Amino acid sequence: MKDVAGKVAFITGGASGMGLGMARAFGAAGMKVMIGDIEKGPMDAAVAELKLKGIEAAGVVVDVANRDSVFAAADATIAAFGKVHVLCNNAGIGVSGKSDKCSVENWQWVMDVNLWGVIYGLQAFVPLIESHGEGGHVISTASMAGMVSFRYMGPYNATKFAVVTIMETMMEEHRDDNIGVSVLCPGVVATNIASGTRNRQEKYGGAREARDLEANAEMLGKGLDPDIVGEQVLEAIIDDQPYIFTDPDMRKYIDKRFERLSAGYDWADNCQALKKDKRASR
Ligand SMILES: NC(=O)c1ccc[n+]([C@@H]2O[C@H](COP(=O)([O-])OP(=O)(O)OC[C@H]3O[C@@H](n4cnc5c(N)ncnc54)[C@H](O)[C@@H]3O)[C@@H](O)[C@H]2O)c1
Repeated sequence: MKDVAGKVAFITGGASGMGLGMARAFGAAGMKVMIGDIEKGPMDAAVAELKLKGIEAAGVVVDVANRDSVFAAADATIAAFGKVHVLCNNAGIGVSGKSDKCSVENWQWVMDVNLWGVIYGLQAFVPLIESHGEGGHVISTASMAGMVSFRYMGPYNATKFAVVTIMETMMEEHRDDNIGVSVLCPGVVATNIASGTRNRQEKYGGAREARDLEANAEMLGKGLDPDIVGEQVLEAIIDDQPYIFTDPDMRKYIDKRFERLSAGYDWADNCQALKKDKRASR
């Protein structure tokens, strides 16, 4: 989408971190911004900040894990701005722990927010983007944890790999229309995600103090400025760039993963059982 000025963007998790960075970058480029967030206070503050800069902005409280809430946010976006062109499925939370030991409640929380939140966003907003024919762009925030399986992060990794494949599938499905598709795969970014348990809904046991908050906050604090990620996302929309990586140093992890996958084929070439396959196609 080359011409972004005047276009409308809806951003989940837009009250903090990378979502707020996107809102600032989009607004500075003349876009209208609808922020959706589960936290009303920070959301109101973000909208006020944008308006102070002369940006057309509005907000809606949304829980992305709740389908009705996401569809209501889509209605609110149309009520506020008449149309929507850009969807940023960005809200997310982190859950750590070994896959086999993580509680079902934790699994469900991270799946509902990080995966179902993206699915509901696509279902509510993509038809609205398609409806006006002016084109648009859809971005979902995955992670490097959607490219590489970091240990002790099984549930989080599972959601982010799923988001990557959904967006890669959509890249194929929207190849011939005027809707761009991108997946954002950040490395470490200095945001508030370490205290994400503040937003844990009652259904999953309610808000609580985050484990290892200080250590994780310190580690994240050394990460990339989320406003830079926001500017990267804007650039990716204009360039129609499918993969948005924020940390060039992490490229080696992807290279190592492909080396391991390729080694799996080397093994298969010598595998005794496969040698019994006499199909002509082999
Ligand atoms: N910070 C990192 O290092 C990092 C790295 C890779 C990927 N990510 C991903 O980036 C995305 C943005 O997170 P961030 O790092 O900016 O964190 P953040 O906590 O600063 O921002 C996340 C925002 O999402 C909102 N939110 C949480 N649950 C919600 C829900 N159920 N419904 C609606 N809004 C909700 C929060 O209130 C917050 O405003 C997430 O998807 C996260 O998984 C973060």
